[in-house]
Amino acid sequence: MAILITGGAGFIGSHTCVALLEADYDIVVVDNFSNSEPEALRRVMEITGKSFKVYAFDLLNEKDLETVFIENHIEAVIHFAGLKAVGESVAIPLSYYQNNITSTVILCEVMKKFNVKNLVFSSSATVYGIPEQNPISEDANLWAMNPYGRTKLMIEEILRDLYQSDQSWSIALLRYFNPIGAHESGMIGENPQGTPNNIMPYVTQVAIGKLRELKVFGNNYPTIDGTGVRDYIHVVDLAHGHLMALEKICGQTGIEAYNLGTGKGYSVLELISTFEKISGVKIPYRIVERRPGDSAVSFADPSKAERELGWAAKKGLAEMCADSWRWQSKNPKGYEELKGMKALL
Ligand code: UFG
Repeated sequence: MAILITGGAGFIGSHTCVALLEADYDIVVVDNFSNSEPEALRRVMEITGKSFKVYAFDLLNEKDLETVFIENHIEAVIHFAGLKAVGESVAIPLSYYQNNITSTVILCEVMKKFNVKNLVFSSSATVYGIPEQNPISEDANLWAMNPYGRTKLMIEEILRDLYQSDQSWSIALLRYFNPIGAHESGMIGENPQGTPNNIMPYVTQVAIGKLRELKVFGNNYPTIDGTGVRDYIHVVDLAHGHLMALEKICGQTGIEAYNLGTGKGYSVLELISTFEKISGVKIPYRIVERRPGDSAVSFADPSKAERELGWAAKKGLAEMCADSWRWQSKNPKGYEELKGMKALL
C-alpha cells in the first residue's frame, strides 16, 4: 500500500515526502517538473535513506495517471500539484483553470475508477479572500480575489459535490497560511523560478546579495507598525499536518477543512528584524505602495486541526528564519547550482 503524492517535488510536497517516509509510509510521486526539480526528490531520498518511485507525468494525461494506479497499490492521495503564483494567474487564467481544476477532476476520476477515495487536498488561506476578522476560523466566509484563489475555492466546492454524490469518500481540505522555513538539513527548501513573489525567498535572496533590497508593500495598514501581518508557518510543521490529516481520513469518511497555521501573526518589519537577528545580515528595504489585493492582517484559528487532527505547529519564527537562511546560504542558486556542476563534469 502506498500514498500517491502529486507535486511531490515542490516546496511543501518535498517536505511532506520526508515526513511520510520518516513515518514509514511507502510513497509514489507524480510530478511534471514544470516548476520543480527532480533533484529535490533525490535529496528527499538522501535525507531519509529511502527510495520511492517517481513518475514524470502530467495529471492532465489521464492514461498516464491510470498507469500509476495500475502499477502501484495506492491507498490515498495527497494532491499538491498545481500552479500557485497569484500575479501569473491574473495574466494566464485559463492555464490556471486547466492545470489546477481540470487536473484535479481527472485525478478524482482515476481515483474513483480504482476505488481509491482518500484524498488530502492542498488548499490555501487564500479562500478567505480579505478576511472580515482574525483569527480566521474554517467557517468564515469564503471568496476569491484572483484566478489562483478561485481555483482553490472551486476545487474545494468540487470535492464537496463529489462527497455529496458518494459518501464513501474521505477528504481533508488543508488551508495553509504562509509557509516558510526549510528542512533543518538545509538540503531541501523553497526554490522559486525568477524573482520571488513571496516575502521569505525575497528576503533570503537579498541576504545573499542576489537582490538589492526588499520592497515593503505599504506601511499604512492598521497594524502594529503599519506593515502587513501574516501567520507564517514552518514547512516541516505543515508537512506533519499532512501526515496527521492522512491518518485521520484513512479511518473514516467525510469532508472537512482545516486551517494549518500557528495562530500568531507577525508584521513584515517583525519578520525582517527576526531574520536579521538570526542571520546577522542586514536586509535593506524600502517602503513602497501597497500591493493590490493584499489584506492588512491574516492569521489562523488553528484549534480545529488541534482538536480533530491532534496537530499543532511547534516551530516559531526564529526557527523558520534560521532554516530558510540555512537552505538559501547552502544553496545560493537553489537546485540550479547542481545542474551547473553536472554540466562541468
Ligand atoms: N510582502 C512585501 N514585499 C514583498 C513580498 C511580500 O512587503 O516583496 C508582504 C506582503 O504585502 C504581505 C506579506 O509580505 O504583507 C506576505 O506576503 P507573501 O506574498 O509572502 O504572502 P501572501 O500572504 O500575500 O500570500 C500567501 C501565498 C498565497 C496564498 C496566501 C493565502 O503566497 O499563495 O498566502 O493567504 F494564497
